[in-house]
Amino acid sequence: MRHLMSPLDFSVEELDQLLDLAVDIENHPEKYAHACDGKKLATLFYEPSTRTRLSFEAAMINLGGSVLGFSSAASSSAAKGESVSDTIRMISCYADICAMRHHKEGAPMVASTVSSIPVINAGDGGHQHPTQTLTDLLTIRSLKGRLGNLTIGLCGDLKFGRTVHSLVKALARYEGVKFVFISPEELRIPSYIKEDVLEVNHLPYQEVERLEDVMGDLDILYMTRVQRERFFNEEDYIRLKDFYILDRKKMELAKDDMIVMHPLPRVNEISVEVDKDPRAAYFRQVQYGVYVRMALILTLLEVKVC
Ligand code: NCD
Repeated sequence: MRHLMSPLDFSVEELDQLLDLAVDIENHPEKYAHACDGKKLATLFYEPSTRTRLSFEAAMINLGGSVLGFSSAASSSAAKGESVSDTIRMISCYADICAMRHHKEGAPMVASTVSSIPVINAGDGGHQHPTQTLTDLLTIRSLKGRLGNLTIGLCGDLKFGRTVHSLVKALARYEGVKFVFISPEELRIPSYIKEDVLEVNHLPYQEVERLEDVMGDLDILYMTRVQRERFFNEEDYIRLKDFYILDRKKMELAKDDMIVMHPLPRVNEISVEVDKDPRAAYFRQVQYGVYVRMALILTLLEVKVC
């Protein structure tokens, strides 16, 4: 049985197959409409979510399956003191697969060690968010036609942003990817990512503070929200929250075929005037998230559709 904790749990070849499956689902949804008839997905969300939880649920429903679960720790037995391990043992009796989001780094990993059904990490603290990364990879491959030979700028909260950590790990495996990290001093990419992922593999990267200085070099601009819930004090959050605001004027500095991505939710970091720009890809990214989660559910449940 397989779980998904990190995007690196799949080899590059397996990821290619998963993305190919997602594209087939996009093109022939009817072929998959009953692939998971009678199967159940449990969504165990100890932290708030809109897109991730609902896209998992939409994915399972699109496959003919059904969903059950909870959407906050307060409405689960965690509020009574139940451990993640006990909860997952019990959920294994109710469902065939589960997606778990938790504020503690490593909680889904702990769950996977006692679970008798596949566990998908749907975001663990400031650590990883592998299914957002699958979504991002499918978006990049679909809109740019490749996953290598790209200059990607990651902008905003690179310290706490788990989507950034997972995406950097995943993209580091492709040839010719150049990373540009754009953040204020306090929110720089963690040194463990620089040392263990980039420097070990001799991958080129740049760290800058001003978005304007690098805008014209980028094939992809990946914007992120300042992660308020992971700050130790509100003053720092208030000081940093509007550090970057992508607007029409800054978009004028970008290449004509650059794409703007964002895992969402957006707060202030992309002005709504950018939504109309054809290079804004963040709402299309949401749709790719459903296809790729459908492909992931089929893969982990080992359901084959001919
Ligand atoms: C992200 C997350 O939860 O890490 N959201 C998402 O799942 N699309 C990004 C965020 O919350 O800023």
